Amino acid sequence: MLPFQLVLCFSSFLAIAAAPASQFSTNGLPLVRNISELPQDNYGRAGLSHITVAGSVLHGMNEVEVWLQTFAPGSSTPIHRHSCEEVFVVLKGSGKLYIASNSHQKHPGHPQEHLIFPNSTFHIPVNDAHQVSNTNEHEDLQVLVIISRPPVKVFIYEDWFMPHTAARLKFPYYWDELPAPAKDEL
Ligand SMILES: *[C@@H]1O[C@H](CO)[C@@H](O)[C@H](O)[C@H]1NC(C)=O
Ligand SMILES: *[C@@H]1O[C@H](CO)[C@@H](O)[C@H](O)[C@H]1NC(C)=O
Repeated sequence: MLPFQLVLCFSSFLAIAAAPASQFSTNGLPLVRNISELPQDNYGRAGLSHITVAGSVLHGMNEVEVWLQTFAPGSSTPIHRHSCEEVFVVLKGSGKLYIASNSHQKHPGHPQEHLIFPNSTFHIPVNDAHQVSNTNEHEDLQVLVIISRPPVKVFIYEDWFMPHTAARLKFPYYWDELPAPAKDEL
């Protein structure tokens, strides 16, 4: 390689490395974020701590959203279903997955029960009614959740025998929001 080609090569490398866009993703948030410093909220659910790791509103995610959720002993998700794909990875704790596979009936019906444990993983077939529950009395249950097609469209059931037609629809169900602008920014 001729010396001036090397120089050209090197200077274009510098230009890429110095591009300001590489440091920030959408909304001026840092591209690399410390999960311990991300906002958490219970979104109105007792015993839940929810962190949106990558979200539709905050980070402009279109295809997937990633959550870190911690359930206190005895707490659960509602019985619900959604038309998105969902994958769980259990990071800590244990509990149960309840799932009603037959979605052709008039109601979800009696669910199957599966034990979930650290380092277990499972996915929820589209539109199967399900509930994740921390049945351990002493330990938190922590899960990493990946869902497709945010924001989620959720149908919530009071019990497993509630008719599909009576399930409560929540849409769009956002799990993140833009931070309120600081007052002195005006
Ligand atoms: C991430 O945040 C936690 C809590 O604020 C802090 O203890 C930890 O040092 C941070 N990690 C890095 C690499 O900054
Ligand atoms: C989870 O499983 C992977 C693959 O076997 C292993 O490398 C990892 O150490 C396991 N983690 C825990 C916390 O057991």
